[in-house]
Amino acid sequence: MTAKTIAIAADHGGVELKTEIIKSLADSGWEVLDLGTDGSVSVDYPDFAKVVAKSIINGQSERGILVCGSGIGMSIAANRFPEIRAALVHDRLSTELCRQHNNANVLCLGARLLGDATALDCVKAFVTTEFEGGRHERRVEKLSSVTDCFFATRQ
Ligand code: RB5
Repeated sequence: MTAKTIAIAADHGGVELKTEIIKSLADSGWEVLDLGTDGSVSVDYPDFAKVVAKSIINGQSERGILVCGSGIGMSIAANRFPEIRAALVHDRLSTELCRQHNNANVLCLGARLLGDATALDCVKAFVTTEFEGGRHERRVEKLSSVTDCFFATRQ
C-alpha cells in the first residue's frame, strides 16, 4: 500500500516546531513532504500556506500542516483556496472535531501559543482521526460550493 502524503510548511515563527512534527510523523504511516521554510530568516506566511494548498489541490498531498507564530495567518491564507478546509486548533479535542465534523485537510498550529507536547498531540489526532460523513457531508460540500459559499459573492 502506498503511504499517503502530508505536506508541511512553516514561517520563521514555526520552523522549530515543524522539525519536531516531522520527527514525530516518522512512524505514522504518512509520507512527509517538507515545503520549508528551513531557517530563522523572516519570511511571509502566505507564501508557505500557498505551496501547501497547491500541493493538495494538485494531488501531490492528501493533507497539510501549517505552522506560524499564532497559526492565525496561516489559517486565513490557506482558507482562501476553496478546496482547502484549514483548521486552527488548540488541543486534541478541537483537532478531532475538525476531522470528524469538518473533514479539515489542513491543520494550523501556533508555535508561540502551544507547547510542543500539545502541538504533537494535535498532529497525532489529525493524522489518525477520520471524517464521520453522514450529516456533515452536505455541510462540508457547501464550504466549497460555488453557489453556497462566500466565493459565490465573487461570481
Ligand atoms: C511572524 O512574526 C508572525 O506574524 C507569524 O508567524 C504569524 O503568527 C502570523 O499570523
